[in-house]
Amino acid sequence: MTTISIIGSGNMASAIGTRAAKHGHTVEILSRDPAKAQTLADQIGHGATTAAFGATPAGDIVIVAILFADAVGVVEQFGDALAGKTLVDISNPFNADASGVVTTPGDSVAHRIAAVAPENTHVVKAFNTIFGGVIARDEPLDALFASNSAEAKALFADFVESLGMTPRDAGGLDMAYALEWAGILLVGLANNGAGFDSALAVK
Ligand SMILES: NC(=O)c1ccc[n+]([C@@H]2O[C@H](COP(=O)([O-])OP(=O)(O)OC[C@H]3O[C@@H](n4cnc5c(N)ncnc54)[C@H](OP(=O)(O)O)[C@@H]3O)[C@@H](O)[C@H]2O)c1
Repeated sequence: MTTISIIGSGNMASAIGTRAAKHGHTVEILSRDPAKAQTLADQIGHGATTAAFGATPAGDIVIVAILFADAVGVVEQFGDALAGKTLVDISNPFNADASGVVTTPGDSVAHRIAAVAPENTHVVKAFNTIFGGVIARDEPLDALFASNSAEAKALFADFVESLGMTPRDAGGLDMAYALEWAGILLVGLANNGAGFDSALAVK
């Protein structure tokens, strides 16, 4: 299997990291708080490691598990350490009452990350349409994603398949904005009867 690096040590880092480790990947946690990184690595187990915040991640895939308002700045802070990596933007840029997103067409968080990341870095928008608790359940799921890079799409599709998910390619990075709205749709469905253990599926 492979090494998956995760920036952040919160709920989504835990959910994705735990599932990845269960399916044979080595997980590396990079957090601004080294103690939190170590606690999460210990919780994930299966040989999970930590690295300094800002260091070059060991994995080719780097999950940016940071709230949207800070995600772009964090990628900027890592700078050249992310060169050549496939960055996965999982953020939901919801407005205050989760009635809409604060991004605009062509200016999703994924676009903003791509704009500050090193030139040879690829950005994939994914996982923002799945609740962390649902990822953690380790059941079959559809993983909706978008990217401009065929290479990054193939890498990401292989990764999610290895986690027991079905990769669902939504198209180029311009679809990241649609995926951000799909996050709103998911929350609307969850709040109006479907519940927070539900997931979007393609049939
Ligand atoms: N939770 C879900 O079900 C879910 C589902 C889909 C998508 N998402 C998206 O996933 C992302 C992470 O969500 P989460 O639920 O995992 O959030 P979380 O539990 O609050 O974790 C956020 C992480 O970001 C770190 N962080 C925040 N600001 C930072 C900064 N300026 N520099 C460095 N690290 C910073 C936090 O570090 P500290 O602990 O040190 O503050 C923490 O490790 C968000 O963009 C969210 O929209 C979440």
